[in-house]
Amino acid sequence: MHQYLNSPEVRKDRRLIWAANRSVMENIGSILRRKGKKSRSHWDLFLKILHVLSYILKTFGIYKIGYNNAKKIEVTEMTLKYPGLPKAFDGFRILHLTDLHIDSIPGFTAFLTEKIKSVKFDICLLTGDYRMDRSGSFSHILKPLKVLSHYLEAPDGVFAVLGNHDTYLMAQYEKESGMELLVNESVEIIRDDQKILITGTDDPFDFYTESALMSLETRGYDFKIAMVHTPEMAKWAAQNKYDLYLCGHTHGGQICLKEGVPLISHQFEGKRFNHGTWKIGNMTGYTSRGAGVSGIPIRFNCPPEITLITLVR
Ligand SMILES: [Fe+2]
Repeated sequence: MHQYLNSPEVRKDRRLIWAANRSVMENIGSILRRKGKKSRSHWDLFLKILHVLSYILKTFGIYKIGYNNAKKIEVTEMTLKYPGLPKAFDGFRILHLTDLHIDSIPGFTAFLTEKIKSVKFDICLLTGDYRMDRSGSFSHILKPLKVLSHYLEAPDGVFAVLGNHDTYLMAQYEKESGMELLVNESVEIIRDDQKILITGTDDPFDFYTESALMSLETRGYDFKIAMVHTPEMAKWAAQNKYDLYLCGHTHGGQICLKEGVPLISHQFEGKRFNHGTWKIGNMTGYTSRGAGVSGIPIRFNCPPEITLITLVR
């Protein structure tokens, strides 16, 4: 069972204000980052560079290897121990999915659902980037997301946040996609009168607002999870006594050198946030390599993943 902290009326009003603000940011093509950094997106230039790279890789016959790598989704499993975890949540299993970019490779939904079928979970948390492109139509991903939703049904729900590839317009399809979208807000998950809190923010990489920061100031729970597309709110979440921080965005680099060292990681928080687990104070964070790909549909030394996290006391 779950319960939102705010009433349906307040949530509706806040969603309208957020949508109006996000639509302005999306339409003028201006991106707003933390610490006041504001600039135009360089995504188109980056794509041109990637197309040159893919031409070179095709010439040398390497492209196909990277394309096949991108389809081999791994299941990463881990157990995290929290003495303060409410008893009713001992053994609570979280399926963390991120960066699906579900339209990036033909048949990708089937590869993904095949892996999801192999795991059992109590809740599914998705941390953004559902489509390949960063603008334009998204109607073509609604059907694959609907198919995916049949595999995500979980007793404690399916919650999602948006990434920098997603538009505010997707919010109107949350029910159709079988997900409940968290936009700078929190929801309580309740078991046997015991509660944990999950807070989801809007993407802070391109669409940062102070509402995201404020939503991570909720206090008064024994266990709190933050869902954010990127690692960049982690220090703030740790300061506000969050226990677990789930994010993606980096794709682990997607194209890496042999040791998993990324050529580009698209984040400004430091190397240790590129992929895998990290700590800030008592908070554990996890940056997933993501299930899908963006830019060009290839991966090297950086397999795609879905993550199953079991919480224990
Ligand atoms: Fe992504």
